[in-house]
Amino acid sequence: MPVDAVLGLQWGDEGKGKIVDFLANQYQAVCRFQGGPNAGHTLYLEGEKCVLHTLPSGIFRSNVLNLIGNGVVIDPITLVGEMERVRHHAPDLNERLFVSERAHLILPTHRWIDMASEQARGQEKIGSTLRGIGPCYMDKTGRNGLRAGELRMPSLRASYQALKEKHLQFLKQFPKIDFDLDAEERRWFEAVDHLMSLRFVNSPYWMASLLDKGANLLAEGAQGTMLDVDQGTYPYVTSSNTIAAGISTGLGIAPSSLRRIVGIAKAYCTRVGAGPFPSELEDETGERLRKAGNEFGSTTGRPRRCGWMDLVQLRYACLINGVTDLCITKIDVLNGFDEVGLADAYIDAEGNGTQEMPMDPATLRGVSVTKLPGWNWTPSKVGGLEQLPDAMRHFIEMLCKGAGVPISMLSFGPEREHLLTDL
Ligand code: GDP
Ligand code: IMO
Ligand code: MG
Repeated sequence: MPVDAVLGLQWGDEGKGKIVDFLANQYQAVCRFQGGPNAGHTLYLEGEKCVLHTLPSGIFRSNVLNLIGNGVVIDPITLVGEMERVRHHAPDLNERLFVSERAHLILPTHRWIDMASEQARGQEKIGSTLRGIGPCYMDKTGRNGLRAGELRMPSLRASYQALKEKHLQFLKQFPKIDFDLDAEERRWFEAVDHLMSLRFVNSPYWMASLLDKGANLLAEGAQGTMLDVDQGTYPYVTSSNTIAAGISTGLGIAPSSLRRIVGIAKAYCTRVGAGPFPSELEDETGERLRKAGNEFGSTTGRPRRCGWMDLVQLRYACLINGVTDLCITKIDVLNGFDEVGLADAYIDAEGNGTQEMPMDPATLRGVSVTKLPGWNWTPSKVGGLEQLPDAMRHFIEMLCKGAGVPISMLSFGPEREHLLTDL
């Protein structure tokens, strides 16, 4: 049986959490395949805001299993905090949450290295969430990491100490920063004690046995395509494969298991942290988008940079992910603008128009933007696209044409019911 996926097509924060939560009850399990507590997936339950960092967004659906896959990096402190925070909405959480034994662990010293190395970059900061993501993935690919399956082994303390010592040696090259390692270490081991009650699984077999029984599974992406370590705006990216290809390695399933790839894109673009952003608006319009969209990071609270929808970027994302259908979110945020923009070509360093995402978008001279008429629409119960204002429909049509992929869902507010489906 197949695996479907929901993943971000831009620079993260497209509204993945809301959409996964909505779709989750059509699946037997929701599986996170990469990223870690750098993610912040917001959903609303009876008006209450919940932000998930490591837990999959199927956790609030009482008949749905949830897997933290091997591609995820887990900070026990954040995970335990999060479990306690959401437990009143998911009292049976421990019965439905499974953790891959192969997932890597974020140690306090990973966070310390993240902070020290970001500080040392000065003007060239990535704008990391400082959750220890990069250093943890470095240890994974450097073959030094500590994995969740080791939490229950007698070797845990010794492995922890050995890795910590390596980190302390490494940290000697950086100027000192404030970091209370003793306190953080205490919190880490306390959290580890709590995690013992979870179900650690040999995840490729766990996935295979569900698929053999005919289950439908949903893979949940974190971050977004342009933050992918291989295909994104390197080096201003995260340290994992956020794209569809990462689902196979991050869960231990065959690429041929994938069926539907739902690509989520906001009706405009945002980016939090540093790095190229071709359609960015550093003016009053950008400020207006930030206010209307409440564009402040779910994990760090930082203001998000805003810009028009970028069709060159969107088409690139659809291409490398094999997106089958689009979910456009936050269309309500464009309400009341006289004109709305669609960036439809890049202008390269020589001044020529191009439809290609270059290796380094910072080399672009600019973007060409087509302005379409705006609309005024009071979101209410809507049955289908035909009930939307003509100008909004035209914008959506141009967007899908540019992306080369049809739309299947349109989100017009943060709550579960603010969603048009089966389009
Ligand atoms: P994620 O990381 O992709 O899950 O997205 P975030 O949760 O970081 O950011 C998306 C924000 O937009 C959250 O505050 C959501 O509650 C909110 N949101 C999601 N969909 C919509 C929508 O259609 N309209 C509006 N106005 N807000 C939305
Ligand atoms: P969700 O899943 C938006 C950004 C950071 C920084 C860069 C590297 O909520 O969409 P890292 O901490 O991974 O080393 O940071 O990536 N970033 C995100 N931006 N949404 C996210 O996740 C992000 N996770 C990381 O701001 O620029
Ligand atoms: Mg987010």
